[in-house]
Amino acid sequence: MEKMPYAEPYKIKMIESIKQTTKEERIEKIEQAGLNLFNLKAEDVFVDLLTDSGTGAMSDKQWSAMMTGDESYAGSKSFHLMKDTINNLTGFEFVLPTHQGRAAENVLFSALIKEGNVIPGNSHSDTTKGHIEFRKAVAVDCTIDEAGDPSIMHPFKGNVNIEKLEKAIVDAGAGNVPCVILTITCNSGGGQPVSMENIKAVSAVCAKYNVPLIFDSARFAENAYFIKVREEGYAEKTIKEIVKEAFGYGAGMTMSSKKDAIVNMGGFIAINDEKLYQACSTFNIMFEGYLTYGGMSGRDMAALAAGLMEGTEFDYLNSRIKQVEYLGERLDEAGIPVLKPFGGHAIFIDAKKFLPHIPQSQYPAQVLGVELYKEAGVRGVEIGTVLADRDPVTRENRYPKLELLRLAIPRRVYTNNHMEVVVWGCKKVMENRHNLRGLDITYEAPIMRHFTSRFKTL
Ligand code: F0G
Repeated sequence: MEKMPYAEPYKIKMIESIKQTTKEERIEKIEQAGLNLFNLKAEDVFVDLLTDSGTGAMSDKQWSAMMTGDESYAGSKSFHLMKDTINNLTGFEFVLPTHQGRAAENVLFSALIKEGNVIPGNSHSDTTKGHIEFRKAVAVDCTIDEAGDPSIMHPFKGNVNIEKLEKAIVDAGAGNVPCVILTITCNSGGGQPVSMENIKAVSAVCAKYNVPLIFDSARFAENAYFIKVREEGYAEKTIKEIVKEAFGYGAGMTMSSKKDAIVNMGGFIAINDEKLYQACSTFNIMFEGYLTYGGMSGRDMAALAAGLMEGTEFDYLNSRIKQVEYLGERLDEAGIPVLKPFGGHAIFIDAKKFLPHIPQSQYPAQVLGVELYKEAGVRGVEIGTVLADRDPVTRENRYPKLELLRLAIPRRVYTNNHMEVVVWGCKKVMENRHNLRGLDITYEAPIMRHFTSRFKTL
């Protein structure tokens, strides 16, 4: 018997209109934007795959939770609801709300990281790396080598190479390593998951050298989904059981709630060490807000609590990740070079293969992003040399192994018909690819340049 097809475990109650523009209009808009997709007006984009961060659709339950938000300055009901939900889901005891994920990093790292420190991990996310380097510390990438090859079918390409990790700690001296950061799923590596076996092994190395293991948890539920469907021994476990087990191997987490908690804004730190919590509390009050709101409204914390519960339901995760897979398969069928296995939140197009005649020094993934917008009004984001930024010491461009255009799918927002528009656009760019030329940067900021750089065609 053929298996029953899956479908989204929800129906649509409210819609927002989007408009298609002409190619001539888009060429003009993107030129005005300095060939940087971040500079576009969102209303000039038809299918916006810039990010899956804060772009999800909240459910009726989340919207009704908003109405119950308690806006008390201290000790609000909504804070406690959120805290209890986080305690139950993760097992971490102390919770500090922050306005988003990078704010959680800022607060935690202010307490934890000093100049000269070394922070090993699996391809740190851009803001994480930014916050580390801003403190004149060093992020060491210990991801397995397979992650650097877009065609190898490894089920857990976000995994850490344990020898590299141990070497990084030994080379730096354990006393100089304030934490190890494990990003689940690994965004910079292509939305690739980390296996439970690897989480355990990383945790064991951390225990050996007495270094706390911190999870950068933005997409922890998607990571748990992959453990359930790909790792032996987890098929019968619920997502919530897997989440609890994974976090049990760590000392704490930073969270961008804009991803797997399906809210438009918010974040938090959750940790077990009371002393560290106290140290963070001071910074939280200074940078974010009082301990029980930290930059969030009561209503947002109430919606976050509901979103965490929904975001860790298997049926929801299955339809979400299957939609990402659908886009990946359709692009693959069309001969577009995509990173495999497909990521949890996004499909990544391999720009080195797509545009082999454009060297990395001329930002091929940026070229691809600009062209896809021109053709179809679809906005992706460069995850390549622009994002990799310059070496903080030599100021030379850093050339990452992977040069990618990320197409990140917002949660519960687009249908598979939208995915078809994306596929169509990619095919159009493909037809014309031999005529495309590289780019040069005409303006860039000293740190995290990708947001504001401007480009010209060579
Ligand atoms: N950690 C990871 C793994 C992320 O992907 C992000 C953000 C952050 C931390 C920072 O969280 O945005 O709430 O401050 N990633 C977004 C993206 C921006 O598009 O991938 P934030």
